[in-house]
Amino acid sequence: MTDAIAETVAALTLEEKALLVEGRDSWYTHPIDRLGIPSITLTDGPHGVRLVSDTGGGFDILNNARSTAFPTSATVACSWDPEHSRRIGRALGHESRDAGVHVLLGPGVNLVRSPLCGRNFEYFSEDPLVSGAFGQAFVEGVESQGVGTSLKHYAANSNEEFRFVGDSLVDERAMRELYLRAFERVVRRARPATVMCAYNRVNGVFASEHRELLTGILRDEWGFDGLVMTDWGAAADRVAGVAAGCDLDMPGGIDHNREAIVAAVGSGALAEADLDLAVARVLALVARTTAVGEAPAPHDPEAHARLAAEIATDSAVLLRNTGVLPLSAGPDAPPLLVVGDLFDRMRFQGAGSSLITPTSVVSPKDAFDARGIDYRFERGYRSMDAHADGALSSAAIAAAGPETTVLFFGGLTDLEESEGFDRRTLHLGEPQVALLRGLLDTGARVVVVLFAGAPVELPFHDELAAVLDMVLPGQHGGEATAALLFGEAEPAGRLATSWPLAIEDSSAWADYDRGIQARYLESIYVGYRWYDAAGTALRYPFGHGLSYTSFVWRDLAVSVADGRVRVTATVHNTGDRAGAEVVQCYVANNAGAVFKPEQELRAFAKVRVPAGGSAPVELDFDLADLAYWDVADHAWRLENGEYEVRLSASAQDVRLRAPLSVTTGVPSRSPYPEAVDREYARPPAGVPASFPLLLGRAVPEERAPRRLAMESRFVDARRSVLGRIVGGALDRRMRTDYRAALAMPDSIERDARVKNAHFLVRMMPFTSPRSLAMSSAGEFPYRVALGLDRIAAGHPIRGLRILLGRASTLDAD
Ligand code: BGC
Repeated sequence: MTDAIAETVAALTLEEKALLVEGRDSWYTHPIDRLGIPSITLTDGPHGVRLVSDTGGGFDILNNARSTAFPTSATVACSWDPEHSRRIGRALGHESRDAGVHVLLGPGVNLVRSPLCGRNFEYFSEDPLVSGAFGQAFVEGVESQGVGTSLKHYAANSNEEFRFVGDSLVDERAMRELYLRAFERVVRRARPATVMCAYNRVNGVFASEHRELLTGILRDEWGFDGLVMTDWGAAADRVAGVAAGCDLDMPGGIDHNREAIVAAVGSGALAEADLDLAVARVLALVARTTAVGEAPAPHDPEAHARLAAEIATDSAVLLRNTGVLPLSAGPDAPPLLVVGDLFDRMRFQGAGSSLITPTSVVSPKDAFDARGIDYRFERGYRSMDAHADGALSSAAIAAAGPETTVLFFGGLTDLEESEGFDRRTLHLGEPQVALLRGLLDTGARVVVVLFAGAPVELPFHDELAAVLDMVLPGQHGGEATAALLFGEAEPAGRLATSWPLAIEDSSAWADYDRGIQARYLESIYVGYRWYDAAGTALRYPFGHGLSYTSFVWRDLAVSVADGRVRVTATVHNTGDRAGAEVVQCYVANNAGAVFKPEQELRAFAKVRVPAGGSAPVELDFDLADLAYWDVADHAWRLENGEYEVRLSASAQDVRLRAPLSVTTGVPSRSPYPEAVDREYARPPAGVPASFPLLLGRAVPEERAPRRLAMESRFVDARRSVLGRIVGGALDRRMRTDYRAALAMPDSIERDARVKNAHFLVRMMPFTSPRSLAMSSAGEFPYRVALGLDRIAAGHPIRGLRILLGRASTLDAD
């Protein structure tokens, strides 16, 4: 704490301190005018600057100022070039400065644990190195402009439907090696201004009051010196939160929390020194983000839109190509039939808190028309309708035939993929599947262009002529699509997440979204770490992606000096087009006593090689990166033994190998009980009996409360009368906003409002009275939540008194 901050803290009253550690409302901190402490602005993140322009109603998210909608994190990660993340970060930092935003809420570096998580589009990868590298570059980019970031959601937030009440049960090693690893890298290397804690509990304790996570690991071990804020509504016991190291409660506006803090300091239950520390960190954040010098010249929205298109182009993944791509656009080109709603209503971003109202949109249709491409368009289906439209699909099928090349624009819609809820399956929507079948049956060559933030199951895959995955490419994604389809640009993206053939094959399947407790049964076997070791056949492996040219890799050399491993090779472009190759360096070491994945990514580089030319590859990493987390010593341990360095074009496409002998570590010995060693020697099937041993404790089953309770999801509370009444009222309220949005005239604003309102309709049943009260900045008051809880628990008089404000919320029992 600097002297100036200490002086300010000393000058504050207890009530002012309680004010400063909560938001003033959704997007601002409290000012204290008499001491000249300004309010600062916090805004989502992470793919654009979502400055809320109208805070009236709709839980404060319906109307946003326009800003550049960049490709989403899941998209950018497929570029395998963290410099793109840095460039986006810089641009967003600039837009934030122009908009008067002090902290941009992102990036999200949670691991993609299951392909079903509705929010995967907002995360980078199933691999912590990829997530960490892109997260780090993003933070450095934004903060280079004098704007703070918020690294989120700390930690183990891997599903949407139980995020407000759920408990992630994760063993210590999986936590360290996977779920914390990207956070650790970003905190240590990029020093973000803030970290946002997750909604969920981690091993029984809410992340917002998890002392080991927020203070022990984050600050004491990793040296974090910034501020921790809650996710919006993640506070549960706010006093415990302050004591644990959670400085700022957002969005705030909760009388109960302020009163509880004041009372706890008064009674000695909360040390005032702990509160002072939280206040000091708020003041330090205000100082850090307001003393940033002169504003730069305003940004150029068109330049940012071009940047978004350039990065989308370099990130798209050509998954399959039987030779039909690139298409020829010349006068002799075969007739082109374009099918699919997403052709002119491109889905370029995900829905939820990250949803941007873009400055402009270039759909594939816009980009085709700008190029004067000759095509016939049939809509085929409507993306915001879960049912097939018989007339549209018949017209599309009737237009196809053996001579036609069909470009099918499909993927996930906002009805299927969004923050706030998870998917149930990997399938494409039924209208799209039926339509694709019909088109293929005509004998047409079908090229699928996908827009989806996560893997999908591709029926009839082997009959498809090509598959181009644009992921969610940002506002000018249509430009990127056309450039790639017509060969003006080279496909250069590689998957940052494995694509399983079926959801049952995926690592988290045994216990995903099945209840309040999320047992991370698969431990360290996530994504390719699972599929490789289990020998699962995949649709596409992690790291996969094709090019329009071809490459040969040669001359692998591996050396170790001063604790760094240096890996070099050469990539030759043997084709007649320029192209880019992503060189992935995996290291294998699983012959020792400690169970390990078959291989783990340790470094990667994207090399751009001219036609017929060659380019050197130089990678390096710390020998210490090869360590595993020893749960007996609670420390990283490098095992001695024989390792193999693999240079690969995907997790399953090893191009070059070299041995690496490690002798500077410790002898191999397992820290686990024998039953764990046995069951976890390979990815475990179903529910391993030794999971409690792995976790280090027994976990009694916790069932969702069936009545309306502070911690019951409204969807579960529907089993009770009160639950149905309250849940029904909320549902009607959300649906009114949705209908109003649907009634708006067609425009970019309507689109954004419809998506936002739909997200709220879908998310609301999964909230709990407590989380809703904590997140709605007073719209659903805490006293109402608690009063209802007390009434449902059989204390109608006390409950009613609390609900009506006649009794204190501090005195509920
Ligand atoms: C999301 C955060 C977001 C916050 C503010 C939450 O629901 O989980 O990622 O920053 O809302 O919109």
